[in-house]
Amino acid sequence: HLQQTGPRPIILVGMMGAGKTTIGRQLARELKREFMDLDHELEARSGVRVSTIFEFEGEQGFRKRESAVLDICSRQSGIVLATGGGAILSEANRQIIKDRGIVVYLCATVDELYRRVARDRNRPLLQTADPRARIQELLQAREPLYEEVADIRFETGSAPVHHAVRHLLSQL
Ligand code: S3P
Repeated sequence: HLQQTGPRPIILVGMMGAGKTTIGRQLARELKREFMDLDHELEARSGVRVSTIFEFEGEQGFRKRESAVLDICSRQSGIVLATGGGAILSEANRQIIKDRGIVVYLCATVDELYRRVARDRNRPLLQTADPRARIQELLQAREPLYEEVADIRFETGSAPVHHAVRHLLSQL
């Protein structure tokens, strides 16, 4: 097994639309760390979009790939890593996230989440008749899992990104 030597990665978890990528990127810049986004890494490595993976391999196929990429990325010390909203679903992934990272759970209300992802086409789980209800359902099921892995919890309301980042910097 590869051993981590430098500082533990900061791992951001939370629902789609919680701000993991936006806040994570900014946080990394402030800390002068490298930023990685799990979905982006997965797309770069497989050469296709997340939505295409869902289309051809289903959610199960996507989760397998996601776990593999999480295992690789989370070994890198000194990074800020944004995960996909469902990365905490598997027990094995949660263990990896807890063991290797300093974990930040970004939470938001259903309305706020919905507002931020309403027009996004690359989120296959929301391609349903009632995406708002879907978000509510997913949040309800996942909330305890996010809480389980979190070291720090931060509510991303309508405050600007730099406020969130400043707050997190004071907590880390
Ligand atoms: C998912 C969230 C997405 C992406 C995939 C599944 C989820 O990532 O991994 O569409 O299960 O919540 P974001 O949280 O970055 O949108």
